Amino acid sequence: MNTRKPGTVLVVGATGSVGRHVVAEAVRQGYITRALVRDASRAGRLDAGAQKVTGELTRVETLADAVADIDAVIFTQGSSYGDAAAAEAVDYGAVKNVLLALGGRRVRIALMTAIGVTRRGSTHDWKRRSERLVRASGNAYTIVRPGWFDYQDDDQLEITLLQGDTRHAGSPADGVIARHQIARVLVDSLASDASDHLTFELVAGHGPAQESLKPVFQALDKDPAGSLDGVRDRPNMPADAEP
Ligand SMILES: NC(=O)c1ccc[n+]([C@@H]2O[C@H](COP(=O)([O-])OP(=O)(O)OC[C@H]3O[C@@H](n4cnc5c(N)ncnc54)[C@H](OP(=O)(O)O)[C@@H]3O)[C@@H](O)[C@H]2O)c1
Repeated sequence: MNTRKPGTVLVVGATGSVGRHVVAEAVRQGYITRALVRDASRAGRLDAGAQKVTGELTRVETLADAVADIDAVIFTQGSSYGDAAAAEAVDYGAVKNVLLALGGRRVRIALMTAIGVTRRGSTHDWKRRSERLVRASGNAYTIVRPGWFDYQDDDQLEITLLQGDTRHAGSPADGVIARHQIARVLVDSLASDASDHLTFELVAGHGPAQESLKPVFQALDKDPAGSLDGVRDRPNMPADAEP
């Protein structure tokens, strides 16, 4: 499925429960993998094949080493649900600050947000704003909105992608997905033209894992050029009413 495999990948949120899987998967797929950590003492559990770089994702001036010579970045950071200040500083701030640190240099982007992100009135609004930054950045990108982590049955191995963000139960009834499956989708997306300009929800279906995700990506609609929102998202966040 690979069209152009970027060389060096920065993983933001690398010490997180999903980020650790992303670091391991990127190393496994042969990328030069750079893990951003804010506290070097938390880097010990990361894949030994990854570079570790120290920086604070909420402070752009600390990110120069992290973004030096990268070809791609995968965002998996996240703050505690319900803390608006942290959501702005971390969920949104990491994307803003990495783009600022890049200074307009083009990179491939994979961003993890969450299923239900278009439902208004929660701290997830900041994740949605981070999606908008990515779409507006002019970079090739894939935005992945996973369902609930690690509630899946043993036979739920099939990668299933949805669009329109219509599931709003706020529970695993919205769909479930394993952390290692999220990591595979994020890393696989980097080298595929089929996944460029895609926004989708990610859940696990009952069935075997697909050998290649290219046809799964190809079955989706791309976000229109210049659009701030995912292709089938409800237009319930008017840009002119945004902070
Ligand atoms: N749980 C679910 O079912 C589910 C489903 C869909 C989406 N999500 C979303 O997935 C996101 C990530 O989840 P996760 O389980 O991987 O989270 P996690 O294990 O708590 O990891 C969060 C990552 O963000 C970093 N981070 C958090 N606050 C920070 C701060 N103030 N400054 C710098 N770095 C900070 C953490 O760094 P440190 O290690 O240094 O703290 C860590 O690398 C969450 O935002 C959540 O909303 C969750």
